[in-house]
This record gives sequence, C-alpha cells and structure tokens, in this order.
Amino acid sequence: MDLSQFKMATATVRCEPSGREVVVVHESNLMDAIHQTGLGLGQSCDGVALCGFCRVKILNGAENLSSMESEEKQILASMHAGDDERLACCATIHGPVALTTTYW
Ligand code: FES
Repeated sequence: MDLSQFKMATATVRCEPSGREVVVVHESNLMDAIHQTGLGLGQSCDGVALCGFCRVKILNGAENLSSMESEEKQILASMHAGDDERLACCATIHGPVALTTTYW
C-alpha cells in the first residue's frame, strides 16, 4: 500500500520574539496553533469573534491565512488595527506564518 497518498499538507507557525514554532496541518485554526506553542493568547469570547483579545500582528505569511469575514473586519476596524493584524480565532492556516503580539 502506498501511504504517500495520505500525506497531509503542513505549515509552520512561528511566534516572535520567542521563536517558538509549531507545525500544523493546513486548515488548522491560528489560535489553536498558537496555544500548541505553549504561549498564552488573550480571549474572553471563546473564539467567536466578539472580544478582539486574540489580536495578533502577522510578520510574514499573511497570504497564507484565510481571508477575513465581515465580523473580523468590523472588530479590527473598531480597534483601529493595522492592515497586518488578524484575530487568531478567525484565521485558518494554509502555509507558513510568523506573528507576534504586544504582550509576548
Ligand atoms: S477570542 Fe474573542 S475575538 Fe478571538
């Protein structure tokens, strides 16, 4: 049996400035990936795009994240977030990403 057909696409998520990394399968949630690195990330809405506490700054690989839905855009706009910021609970991973927050 050829097992290569079952190989899943993976991507590395790197958190700066610590350099902690995790390798996840494509379509993984960004917040879940960050938690797998052992780093804490703010949240008070259970990841349903209400609180904005999971805001992260994407340093590299923004094109490797899912596009924003209207709820995420509205919250980020209300926070006067930069174009390089995302809500980790709202983004899924399709390739390598590097990111940070103000409190790491
Ligand atoms: S955890 Fe609340 S908006 Fe992401």
